[in-house]
Amino acid sequence: MVGSYAGGIFLGKSIAFVSGKGGTGKTTCAAAIGSCLAALGHKTLLIDCDSGLRNLDLALGMADFAVDDFSDIIENRVSASDAVSRHPVIDNLFFLAAPPDRTPDEINPAEFSKLLSSAKQEYEFVLTDSPAGIGSGFLLALRECDIAIIVTTPESSAVRDAARAAEEILELNIPAARMIINRASKSEHYIDAIIDDVGVRLIGLVRYDSAVPITAEQGVALVLGSTRGAARDLLNVTLKLLEV
Ligand SMILES: Nc1ncnc2c1ncn2[C@@H]1O[C@H](COP(=O)(O)OP(=O)(O)OP(=O)(O)O)[C@@H](O)[C@H]1O
Ligand SMILES: [Mg+2]
Repeated sequence: MVGSYAGGIFLGKSIAFVSGKGGTGKTTCAAAIGSCLAALGHKTLLIDCDSGLRNLDLALGMADFAVDDFSDIIENRVSASDAVSRHPVIDNLFFLAAPPDRTPDEINPAEFSKLLSSAKQEYEFVLTDSPAGIGSGFLLALRECDIAIIVTTPESSAVRDAARAAEEILELNIPAARMIINRASKSEHYIDAIIDDVGVRLIGLVRYDSAVPITAEQGVALVLGSTRGAARDLLNVTLKLLEV
């Protein structure tokens, strides 16, 4: 089991996927890394924090699986176990949807923290998928966070926003931060410059791979539709994450 014990209570690890700029690949990375952790035998919960613009269900191949969302738990309409959906194919993988009709500002952060704390007692990994930006949704996704993963692409606008997100993460005293450079090629000479600009350790490069949008469109989780390309890169990131 991955996690720790505090006062005899099991505590799993919470990992937040954030970016700054939109469309860098947070949802893709969260879905694939969550799938890999689960496939490696770790009980994993993925929480979509992108209220209003949610799409983690699509990347997992779980569109329309969830009837309830995390606001139903926070507002005591359903129990956490009833609101969470089990992945149809990948054992140990669970999903909790974001409310479609709320903005992140409408979520009570303290109640969301309670939800995350109790999830950490039940799951080895709790992964949160943040909306773009560094506003309320970003802050929700980083609540109770043990490891923040900043997902950027090599474009300078994404790198600048990733650096801004990194500053916020530092202020929030998150225990660890790592960076994924998505849609990158191994030969890119400016990787070191990106690491310098963002000031966060690199955990891996994920190459551009047409299987990412194709599998999402087909409603199939990336790692079930492909074992090469970006799926392979994201498995490598997962293995490194287990050492953080
Ligand atoms: N490595 C990749 N190769 C090819 N396409 C990719 C890759 N990563 C992500 N994409 C595509 O880029 C788009 C944005 O990805 P994704 O939704 O994961 O980003 P996001 O950071 O979650 O976006 P948002 O900020 O809107 O939440 C999607 O169409 C996705 O299929
Ligand atoms: Mg997203």
